[in-house]
Amino acid sequence: MKRVRKAVLPVAGLGTRMLPAAKTVPKEMLTVVDRPLIHHVLAEARASGIEHFVLVTGRGKGAMENYFDHHVELEATLAAKKKTAILEELMADLPTAGEISYVRQMEPKGLGHAVWCARDIIGDEPFAVLLPDMIMDATPTATAQAISAFEQTEGGNIIVVEPCPPGMAHQYGIVALDGQDGRLNRMTGMVEKPAPGTEPSNLFISGRYVLDPAIFRVLETVERGAGGEIQLTDAMAKLMAIQPFYALEYEGATYDCGDKIGWLRANVALALKRPDLGEAACAALAPLFSA
Ligand code: UTP
Repeated sequence: MKRVRKAVLPVAGLGTRMLPAAKTVPKEMLTVVDRPLIHHVLAEARASGIEHFVLVTGRGKGAMENYFDHHVELEATLAAKKKTAILEELMADLPTAGEISYVRQMEPKGLGHAVWCARDIIGDEPFAVLLPDMIMDATPTATAQAISAFEQTEGGNIIVVEPCPPGMAHQYGIVALDGQDGRLNRMTGMVEKPAPGTEPSNLFISGRYVLDPAIFRVLETVERGAGGEIQLTDAMAKLMAIQPFYALEYEGATYDCGDKIGWLRANVALALKRPDLGEAACAALAPLFSA
């Protein structure tokens, strides 16, 4: 069984739910506390043992390439002013040269199409997909939990899922399971936004996957689906006819930062958890809630 070494991080979407900010700031560069979303999610991938990161980018997304590069002038200024702590932090966060590849999607034709754009860099090995607008706060990371599940099932495909808020299943991609015993279960299907009362489970597809490279061949032939986009869900449903898929109910807290309220929640929750900021954040926020 091949090891999961590479991850695809699709960042080419338009981010319409985060307009007007996303008009000129890539959604993935919006900050949660003091670092952009893509920083949080790339750090998760690294902490999960991923060795190569493939960012699928598009027009207007160049800020991310600069973010993961040296800023010579800034570094020199910080050194001259002896701001060593922040300088050391910036340097520690930089990827090693050659660790990140960028491919252009050219047109945001959907998540499935974005993943397909990474096919040549991924090659013939299993890989992780992390949606950078989902912060999944967990120890071990959500991606590490998915990779462990992949090793436990000796291959196949893993989809990270979590319970829907009551009555909300019709807004999500929902999985169908072949019985439910513990957190890792074989899947029999998935349905995008089921009509209320028809959902096969209360578990929705969250933002992390481990996929077999056979998905690329399926993505080549899959037709445009919901919203006129090439959907990863449609390709996974097709691949399920010939390969096992497992739903992993991960342990952790998810913040959908592609949505204004989810992004706000992430900022508050992660600030409160930070040893250097938590107390001050709590003192500053508390009066807002008692007003
Ligand atoms: P989303 O559907 O959440 O992103 O895709 P979006 O389309 O940018 O957002 P809205 O719905 O318009 O607000 C999840 C991830 O997949 C990427 C996005 O950038 C996001 O990080 N994506 C989506 C692509 O890379 N290409 C696409 O064609 C679509």
